[in-house]
Amino acid sequence: MPTKTYGQREPMENEAMEHTLETQARAIWPQEKPYLRKIFNRTGLRVLDVGCGTGEISSRIVKEFSPREVVGLDLAEVNLLRARERFDPARYPGLSFLQGDATEIQFEDNRFDVALCRHMLQAVSEPQKVIREMVRVVRPGGWLYFLAEDYGMLFFHPTMYDADEFFREFGGKAAQRSGSNLRHGRTMPSKLMELRCSEIEVNYLCIDTLRVDRKLLAQIFIHWREGFERWISEYSGQPLDDVRNRFNDIIECTLRPDGYAVWLIPSISARITEESKQIAAND
Ligand SMILES: C[S@@+](CC[C@H](N)C(=O)[O-])C[C@H]1O[C@@H](n2cnc3c(N)ncnc32)[C@H](O)[C@@H]1O
Repeated sequence: MPTKTYGQREPMENEAMEHTLETQARAIWPQEKPYLRKIFNRTGLRVLDVGCGTGEISSRIVKEFSPREVVGLDLAEVNLLRARERFDPARYPGLSFLQGDATEIQFEDNRFDVALCRHMLQAVSEPQKVIREMVRVVRPGGWLYFLAEDYGMLFFHPTMYDADEFFREFGGKAAQRSGSNLRHGRTMPSKLMELRCSEIEVNYLCIDTLRVDRKLLAQIFIHWREGFERWISEYSGQPLDDVRNRFNDIIECTLRPDGYAVWLIPSISARITEESKQIAAND
């Protein structure tokens, strides 16, 4: 399949991304699992993990909830190779990884009971198309689930620089110029209401220095620096040293014993109705 390109493709596929996703999953999963349990209230579900990356969550879902199958779908063959190496289907019954484009999913209508999409919509230029495709491939009464990042939901104290400005002016500008939107998270409830989904629920995962080991949290930001500093500098026009200093500032804040860092992540679930299917089909 010819691989389509998009503005955040390089940081989504570089080596730092594998470490980022592994570290993020370790920090986030304990808080996220109880919300997923509501969706996975029975075994034997058919699950699509859209933008599965290196398979961190596809594999955890197999172990935790005993679904019939989990298909991890991703555009990036390099991430799928990492996923297949890490999570051998012999040890994860029903798990498979497949290359595909979330804006044109190769499965037929109503094929799945659940479609998940974590940490992806903020990186792509056509999030609405992705959501529409997820609605199409899930049966009426089935579930959508998102971790929808929003870079206006990170706070740090104390810092030398203005961390809000960093995420807004540096990251935000880079995203905008590369065709994505880092403040996508806050738009999701309205989008799901427009689609007439039912049982829309938003819970905030509070990934902070009080709930998560500060070294683990700092490690996430270290991987972000490794993976994104060049991309931010290139697209925002800010000097690389300046971008690096800003990352180092939030890493130091996270590590210092009196520092407080928090990353709030909307964990969003909703059920698909017959009306959602019609609206998505006519979109
Ligand atoms: C930040 S990673 C998230 C990985 C995984 N969902 C997780 O939570 O660990 C985003 C992934 O979305 C993938 N991606 C981006 N655009 C895509 C598209 N149009 N179709 C499928 N996958 C896509 C990237 O290749 C990357 O692996």
